[in-house]
Amino acid sequence: MCGIFAYLNYLTPKKRAEILELLVNGLKRLEYRGYDSAGVAVDTADDKDIAIIKKAGKVALLEEEIKNRSSELNMDGSTDIHCGIAHTRWATHGVPNEVNCHPLRSDPHNGFVLVHNGIITNYKEVKVFLEKKGYKFESETDTEVIVKLIHHFYQKHPSYSFRELVESVVQQLEGAFALCFKSKFFPGECVATRRGSPLLVGIKTATRLATDHIPILYSKEDHPTSPINKDADSNSEHRPYGRADYPTLPRTGSTSEFEPLEDKQVEYFFASDASAIIEHTNRVIYFEDDDVAAVKNGSLSIHRIRRGGDDPHKREITTLKMELQQIMKGNYDFFMQKEIFEQPDSVINTMRGRVNFETGNVVLGGIKDYIPEIKRCRRLMLIGCGTSYHSAIATRQLLEELTELPVMVELASDFLDRTTPVFRDDVCFFISQSGETADTLMALRYCKERGALIVGITNTVGSSICRESHCGVHINAGPEIGVASTKAYTSQFISLVMFALVMSEDRLSLRKRREDIINGLRNLQDQIRQVLKLDDKVKVLAGDLYKKKSLLIMGRGFNFATCLEGALKVKELTYMHSEGIMAGELKHGPLALIDEAMPVMMIIMRDPVYVKCMNALQQVTARDGKPIIICEEGDKETLAYGYKTLEIPKTVDCLQGILTVIPMQLLSFHIAVLKGCNVDCPRNLAKSVTVE
Ligand code: F6R
Repeated sequence: MCGIFAYLNYLTPKKRAEILELLVNGLKRLEYRGYDSAGVAVDTADDKDIAIIKKAGKVALLEEEIKNRSSELNMDGSTDIHCGIAHTRWATHGVPNEVNCHPLRSDPHNGFVLVHNGIITNYKEVKVFLEKKGYKFESETDTEVIVKLIHHFYQKHPSYSFRELVESVVQQLEGAFALCFKSKFFPGECVATRRGSPLLVGIKTATRLATDHIPILYSKEDHPTSPINKDADSNSEHRPYGRADYPTLPRTGSTSEFEPLEDKQVEYFFASDASAIIEHTNRVIYFEDDDVAAVKNGSLSIHRIRRGGDDPHKREITTLKMELQQIMKGNYDFFMQKEIFEQPDSVINTMRGRVNFETGNVVLGGIKDYIPEIKRCRRLMLIGCGTSYHSAIATRQLLEELTELPVMVELASDFLDRTTPVFRDDVCFFISQSGETADTLMALRYCKERGALIVGITNTVGSSICRESHCGVHINAGPEIGVASTKAYTSQFISLVMFALVMSEDRLSLRKRREDIINGLRNLQDQIRQVLKLDDKVKVLAGDLYKKKSLLIMGRGFNFATCLEGALKVKELTYMHSEGIMAGELKHGPLALIDEAMPVMMIIMRDPVYVKCMNALQQVTARDGKPIIICEEGDKETLAYGYKTLEIPKTVDCLQGILTVIPMQLLSFHIAVLKGCNVDCPRNLAKSVTVE
């Protein structure tokens, strides 16, 4: 997904070479999001114009291009006040070439330049409007209409400030966006805004900040410039929703005064996520939808356009806890590999301070006040996409067992397509590693509008899902950089198990079951370490499989989710066909695929569906299938078949999926390496899917 990075230094002398290095490094930190071209815009050597440097392909190529143009850019020249913007583009409208790459410009003289993350859904109407005004478009992007529109408003309202121009523009836009503008008409200024796509700013000052928040200023009524959309309020669906019994801070009006930061030397870092900022500062502000943030004369102000709704009237400056080390590869060759091997620790971090192994107490601070209401609900709905959705499948059975509530598990996109009925007494869980997935966020807003209680299960503090939920659980897996989700899955899994335990704490009949599960959680770290020791064995299996065209993965019960998740990992990382098959469905179709040549994996644990799984094994072997079996350590009966096996330590049935998924993560990783695929950034995929 596109990545935005912008850097503004105010009364902080920097050489151009330093500024460009900073911008390029910011982009490198965002590379994991997935992209296919990259670009930067900085002032020209004489400070009178804007230089745009763009390249299709990787950031390294952009870096090369900057070197090639170093004499023109006057790399040794120093500047006290400067704004540079940068972008990694993940193509949606138009192929990944240099013309479509951001920053995009308003006109051949680069009056305004812009980087954008998201999709503008009404760009065609805006384009027709601008073409009638004589604007000529050079790219195939939706973004170009935005930067041309601001130019149009600038010509029409020469007295408007940069911020007012941006406000006028965003009122005309529909869709999802984070935007960062630079202009040669407003040197040393930067204006950024968001609606539906993430954006934050890091603030670095020589001394401690004089304030811990920035007040929100409410702009006057909409600027009288609405030539395109008749309904100026058409974006109200993007505003945060209130829930009568979960009061939000009142919105107090337009009179708060902006207090500039006292420290005059200041640097600002705008970015799509914190990983691009953390090496410079840990003091950040996460923007809300419709915030318009402007830096002028070194001061940051945040404005909103008054359109009703309930918003807090200030934005807190948050201190990030993340360390740079956490987002580096360390001794591993790939982020994904590092993240798989981090799981013994990440699962502990998920449980830390929540599960008391001595007393058997489980406390989830982020939802504890809501538990009585959750216990009274009509049903639980678990909603997510991809791997996050699989974590819901993996835990549904336990949630049904321990809560005795109906549990619906939904793919966010399908849930929205069906306009599923949702009621005030529903409790809806939104599971998302990034906390920014557009489909999941839209489903959240849909449920919130209907009065349901919204519980976020996310890995990203400050993300949209986390902010828009009534309550939630941070899974605390640490930054996940590899596009394929691994440690977030096991931590989501554990978070949902902990929730089931909280819901059943006063049920005497479930005491033994709860004790077994808590014991299982206690042993997980060691057992995951044990499973990771299978790495070499898995690598050998990968050698047998990497030239095959397809891989079927079969299982049922508590391990069905591992089949789906394993198949997703194989597909996305190795580009090989793979399918997770419910073993109970074999006779209803999939059995026709089986012959001696079809690669099959089967997950057979000694749990309540063991006999049924053995039955499936016989169905497969009777058709000359030669499955690789993931089985329980020392399970003589299964081992007696003599097929290739991966033996996994036994845990309580409902946690077994945490252990069985790890060999599947390792297998997909090794096949991808053997096939020469890009492990951390598989083709066509992005880490954070902020478009529908
Ligand atoms: C697969 C994968 C994706 C994500 C999905 C949802 O490895 O990573 O399927 O799980 O795009 O993303 P989040 O969890 O960020 O909402």
